[in-house]
Amino acid sequence: MSIEQRKLDHVRYALELPVTRNTGFSDLSFVHRALPECDLADVSLATEIGGLTFSSPILINAMTGGADQTERINRDLAALAQRTGLAMAVGSQRAALKDERLVRTYAIVRELNPDGIVIGNLGAGASVKDAQRAVDMIGADLMHLHLNVAQELTMPEGDRSFQGIAQQIREVVEGLSVPVIVKEVGNGMAAETYEQLAELGVPVVDVAGRGGTNFVSIENQRRSGLHFQDLEGWGQTTAVSLLEAQPYLNRYDLIGSGGVQNALDAAKCLALGARAVGVAGAILRPLMEHGLEAAVELVEHWHAELRAVLTLQGCARVTDLAQRPLIVRGETAEWCRLRGID
Ligand code: FNR
Repeated sequence: MSIEQRKLDHVRYALELPVTRNTGFSDLSFVHRALPECDLADVSLATEIGGLTFSSPILINAMTGGADQTERINRDLAALAQRTGLAMAVGSQRAALKDERLVRTYAIVRELNPDGIVIGNLGAGASVKDAQRAVDMIGADLMHLHLNVAQELTMPEGDRSFQGIAQQIREVVEGLSVPVIVKEVGNGMAAETYEQLAELGVPVVDVAGRGGTNFVSIENQRRSGLHFQDLEGWGQTTAVSLLEAQPYLNRYDLIGSGGVQNALDAAKCLALGARAVGVAGAILRPLMEHGLEAAVELVEHWHAELRAVLTLQGCARVTDLAQRPLIVRGETAEWCRLRGID
């Protein structure tokens, strides 16, 4: 199976599979303040990640590139980013490191958005040299290194050894020209991983929790014979992943992601200390089904709703939301109790 075909399969199944929405966000509630003493006009959505200022806390998370047909998707995503001021990540650039002809399927993102924040993407085993080639390929401002062990193990042609990756991450963090974001792809994280990442000096972590795009399910669709069906619920939800990260909020910048479907989900990530919120599937779907104008309208709507939530909570800035209490119920509260998280 070629990498190009895999890229197309990922888009196809991400769109086809039903959205489960078991992110844990429904276990989280804001406490309404009827007297917030706040002016909507003073609310700013600007935030900082890895020392860079983002005009919106929402970012388009890593999806695609690496096949001719994906150039069109990256073109539309870049136009969306440019028109709405969102930062944007490309999908894994490994295909273009192997085959020069595919560079343009990623580089288009920088061409269409010369002044925007663009994030590169490679697997976390990448060498400093390859990571720097990926950064230079698109003039990336930040670089993703993704952790996707559950996906690789489910993928018939996937990696089977995950030794030595921590050291590779350390070297890239130290040797790359731009800040590194270590991210999952939808299985989330917990304190054990956050501690390792803190020790490696990683400046930004994207939790990419369970409950949205599910790569074990996607790879199961691509497998013939026996499927790894029992692993489809593997990992921590986005809510649990963010709660597990609380002791690490001053060690690196946190990005909340995984199953974010609307502005309220995004606001809950921010209230749990995330400085930005990544969205992949919930942007890809309207873009592919209804086109660029509909996607622009949706993002503008999310911005308006996010400003409304900040006003309701009496917060002029995105980071102020982290000072507000969030009620945690149900399975998410039970997890916190068992893990000793306050
Ligand atoms: C992804 N994702 C992803 N992540 C990554 O680090 N490198 C990649 O190449 C890809 N490829 C990819 C393709 C497609 C079609 C989708 C939908 C997603 C994972 C993505 O960045 C994100 O972590 C997960 O999708 C979870 O977020 P959502 O989709 O639930 O918002």
